[in-house]
Amino acid sequence: MTWVITPKMQFYLHEDENLLDGLLRTGHEVNYQCREGYCGSCRIRKISSSHAVAYAVAPLAMIDEDEILPCCCRVQGVIHIDNELIIE
Ligand code: FES
Repeated sequence: MTWVITPKMQFYLHEDENLLDGLLRTGHEVNYQCREGYCGSCRIRKISSSHAVAYAVAPLAMIDEDEILPCCCRVQGVIHIDNELIIE
C-alpha cells in the first residue's frame, strides 16, 4: 500500500491507481494534459519518499530533481509532496 502525504491530507492509493488519479480523487487540484510524461504539466514537488520514484518509461518532459510526474511515476511506501501542486 502506498501512502501519500500532502499538506491537505494523508491518503493511500488504490491498487493500480497512479498518483495523479489519487490526487484528483481526493480533491487536489493538479494540472494535467497528456497523462503520458510528455507535456510536464502535471509536475509536482516531492519533499521526501521512502522508496525511489520510478518510471516505466523515461518521461520526455523536463523536470527538476525534486519534481515528479504523478501521471506516470511509480511510487511505493510513503511519499510526501509539496503544497504547491500546480507549478507554473
Ligand atoms: S500530464 Fe503530461 S506529463 Fe503528466
